[in-house]
Amino acid sequence: MTRARVIPTDRIICGDALETLRLLEPETVHLAITSPPYNLSKPYAEHHDEMNYSEYLDWMASVWAEVKRVLVPGGRLCINIGENKRRNITYPTFSAFIQQCIDAGYLYRGTVIWNKNSAAKHCAWGSWNSATNPHIVPRHEYIIAFSKDDFRLDGKKEDCDLDKDLFMTCTRSVWLFGTESKTRIGHPAPFPRELPNRLIQFYSFKGNVVLDMFAGSGTVGVVARLLGRKFILIDNSREYCKLALSRIQSEAGRGLFDVDGGVKAEIMDIDDLIQ
Ligand SMILES: C[S@@+](CC[C@H](N)C(=O)[O-])C[C@H]1O[C@@H](n2cnc3c(N)ncnc32)[C@H](O)[C@@H]1O
Repeated sequence: MTRARVIPTDRIICGDALETLRLLEPETVHLAITSPPYNLSKPYAEHHDEMNYSEYLDWMASVWAEVKRVLVPGGRLCINIGENKRRNITYPTFSAFIQQCIDAGYLYRGTVIWNKNSAAKHCAWGSWNSATNPHIVPRHEYIIAFSKDDFRLDGKKEDCDLDKDLFMTCTRSVWLFGTESKTRIGHPAPFPRELPNRLIQFYSFKGNVVLDMFAGSGTVGVVARLLGRKFILIDNSREYCKLALSRIQSEAGRGLFDVDGGVKAEIMDIDDLIQ
């Protein structure tokens, strides 16, 4: 297998994340934002979300290493992961991911606690009103952020779209916004737009390339388009790739259509990358 010579931006690639990343050119992505499968038995179309935990961690470590290869020097990786509790065992996955990325040579930028402002019914307290075995019920997720080689990312001042308020909000380590409806979007775990919206403006410049290698319903692509960035989305489910394309076309399609009305964004199969 040879590597792709031309990086396909504004494309949704239907394929395995790791295999697809291996085909992309090195040092071509400025920012990767993703939420991988959490290994919490979510009903994804093409992924069995209940792997052996150490195999799951090994897989994730390989993905972070391959992302590092495709990032430009100074490029960033932001990973969203929740508290990982399954069958009464809490797995410290977010801290494992931090260590994996440091071991892969990333520079650790820090962690945001995303307060999900959840109004969901509270239950699973453990021993109710008793110190015998009370449980902590997560109302938050993590966003862990890293840089490749250099904390600084080159870019022109006029390509930065942060204003003072957003900058101040993003620099605080606790972010408050709600979740997105699975039913409304038609995916088991969609990002709320506010998550990529903040990360893209905080960590990249207009015209930069933003990658999501577990793209699902394509929220990162939608927001990247709206903010004047290019995107590369990868997901191994054709159903979700189609969903992502239709969201991008209907929500962020301006400028994506050529003179004949053809859409420039498209779904590619991983085989199309092999030259
Ligand atoms: C947590 S969801 C991402 C949701 C996304 N942030 C959104 O806004 O919709 C994880 C995604 O990873 C995809 N996935 C699982 N295994 C994969 C693999 N081996 N390669 C590529 N994508 C995979 C699933 O299909 C799912 O859409």
